[in-house]
Amino acid sequence: MCYEITVRPSLLPCMDTASIAQTPRRILITGGAGFIGSNFVRYWHDRDRRDRIVVLDALTYAGNLANLADLEGDDNFRFVQGNICDRPLIEKLLRKEAIDTIVHFAAESHVDRSILGPDAFVQTNIIGTFTLLEAFRHHWNSLPATPRPLFLHVSTDEVYGSLNPEDPPFSETTPYAPNSPYSASKASSDHFARAYFHTYNVPTIITNCSNNYGPYHFPEKLIPLMCINILLGKPLPVYGDGQNVRDWLYVKDHCRALDCAIERGKPGETYNIGGNNEVKNIDLVRMLCRLMDELAGDLPLRPSEELITFVKDRAGHDRRYAIDASKIQSDLGWQPSVTVEEGLRKTVQWYLENEDWWKPLLSEEYRAYYQKVYN
Ligand code: NAD
Ligand code: DAU
Repeated sequence: MCYEITVRPSLLPCMDTASIAQTPRRILITGGAGFIGSNFVRYWHDRDRRDRIVVLDALTYAGNLANLADLEGDDNFRFVQGNICDRPLIEKLLRKEAIDTIVHFAAESHVDRSILGPDAFVQTNIIGTFTLLEAFRHHWNSLPATPRPLFLHVSTDEVYGSLNPEDPPFSETTPYAPNSPYSASKASSDHFARAYFHTYNVPTIITNCSNNYGPYHFPEKLIPLMCINILLGKPLPVYGDGQNVRDWLYVKDHCRALDCAIERGKPGETYNIGGNNEVKNIDLVRMLCRLMDELAGDLPLRPSEELITFVKDRAGHDRRYAIDASKIQSDLGWQPSVTVEEGLRKTVQWYLENEDWWKPLLSEEYRAYYQKVYN
């Protein structure tokens, strides 16, 4: 593959001549039918078509085969519907597919759902991660010629808790202080991944990233929910005073960062990944309204800002997240390339062009959940 010399290095995949020459990897991607997982599957597939990609996904409400439709029929791609808590299934998959790399996305991922019902979060995020680690521990060093076995555990900045406005961003040494059942379950899974490296030498890497956004984002999360509600002329529910801050990371930048962690990361290390895009929720919603007003054809109400409605705050709502990504920049050469203005424009355009993707997701189950959260 060759690149124009003028392309900024931060825009390139994390690939060098040595890594191209490596034996193709055999990768198990858990949660590959979800939002980030499916973006990563497509990214990895386009990056190196010789690698074997096996996706394991339970297809919960958040998993969607339509997210992977363009890979159907590819000889080097296999989809398996199954649960990460199913140890015999995982052992069989690792053995039969001779997996040398696990990229672990599968999780219950929505904070509001974790407040309504934490059980599934304990099962999938803690027990599921533990089950995968146990299976990989017994599997990885039995592999004959594996250049670089790896268990990449994809986690979140929410494990660090909440920042005040004057606090420095989270670094890899910030103490864990999870505040929601979701972040507590992710923190627990991070500790297991770390412990498996220190105790058993299992080559694990942990990445903790900020809020992702982009194509295929399930419409329970802030950005897709607002885009779709604007298109439907429904209220735009902003929690509390709307002053909470998130650091927005375009999903394709995240995929590149994971690529860097896989190719150049050091087992036993943690890397923080952030977009360098801190924005208050209310400002973000207003940006989305303006973009929709500019880019959409017919809208039920213009200006869309008139749909903004302040609603009851989320229980235990973290005030601010922000990531210091200097370690992954200095050690692995990654930095984000998409500003929030560029990323939101691309995202709004994607939702406008992909009504066939999101319309079927507004199912009975989704509507019932929506009623529960907003009533
Ligand atoms: P998502 O909810 O869109 O997708 C999760 C996927 O996991 C779905 O396809 C679902 O079917 C699958 N899954 C759930 N339980 C499973 C189980 N028991 N067995 C097998 N598959 C199961 O999530 P996402 O937003 O793509 O997040 C992916 C990962 O990244 C998660 O680990 C999440 O904690 C982490 N993360 C997400 C963000 C974000 O902004 N979305 C930020 C930081 C970290
Ligand atoms: O920080 C990383 C985390 O980002 C990931 O670990 C989680 O998996 C992911 O869901 C996301 O968590 P958040 O809770 O930050 O994302 P969410 O989109 O749910 O909310 C973003 C902000 O917007 C948050 O401050 C709550 C607020 N919000 C959210 C919704 C759904 C609203 O004001 N109104 C809403 O309707």
